[in-house]
Amino acid sequence: MSKLDNSVRDAKERRKSHSIEALEELFPLKIDHYLQLVLLERTQAANLFKLVDSNRAHLRQWLPFVDDYQSVAAANQFIRRNREEHGGKTRLLMGIWQGESLAGVVTYDYIDWGNRAALIGFWLGKSFEGRGIMTRTCNALVDLAFDELGLNRVEISCAYENTRCRRVPERLGFSQEGISRERERIYDRFVDTVSYRMLASEWKKRTV
Ligand SMILES: CC(C)(COP(=O)(O)OP(=O)(O)OC[C@H]1O[C@@H](n2cnc3c(N)ncnc32)[C@H](O)[C@@H]1OP(=O)(O)O)[C@@H](O)C(=O)NCCC(=O)NCCS
Repeated sequence: MSKLDNSVRDAKERRKSHSIEALEELFPLKIDHYLQLVLLERTQAANLFKLVDSNRAHLRQWLPFVDDYQSVAAANQFIRRNREEHGGKTRLLMGIWQGESLAGVVTYDYIDWGNRAALIGFWLGKSFEGRGIMTRTCNALVDLAFDELGLNRVEISCAYENTRCRRVPERLGFSQEGISRERERIYDRFVDTVSYRMLASEWKKRTV
């Protein structure tokens, strides 16, 4: 076995401890020549605030947190809160960088180690839509979930009427599992959601 193989194996062993530190070793994660995922740090709070602030109407249609972002300090607090463990489940908040620009955010809303499952959430600034950025990002996060984190199931949940969101898991071959009535509150309304799943066994078959 080569030195490189050994270090890959050692890194995988460390990740079995499920510590945030072991996960941090995976980042920055290069998706392709143009895109990389970076764990959001408090030093990027100004970038995050600017992106939300310049996309309020666009994001507010489907995301409930937009009004909470009233300052860089609020973005800072959001980043800090998200990099903690929540009852045995891990949350990871990642910025999607295209060169020097923050294009959007993707999250493992949770990694549920006990059940080897994760839920992915995402959004992009309006000017970054329509280029396949989110599909490529989610593709990389599904690979990461199965190949590096040893998970068995990845879920994506979209508002039923959010067709752009739904096309992301559908393009990647996820299966639709069910519709939950009035599952999410977006400001003054409740919306139905659709959940999609990919299993490790399905992903493997799909890519062979
Ligand atoms: C949901 C959201 C991330 C989808 O963005 P998107 O740009 O449609 O998704 P992608 O980045 O995967 O790009 C796909 C589009 O790029 C095109 N595209 C170009 N190159 C591509 C490539 N290499 N691979 C895939 N698609 C490509 C596709 O044809 C598609 O366009 P179409 O839908 O007009 O056919 C975005 O609309 C958003 O952030 N909305 C607001 C917040 C939101 O709804 N978040 C989800 C809440 S759960």
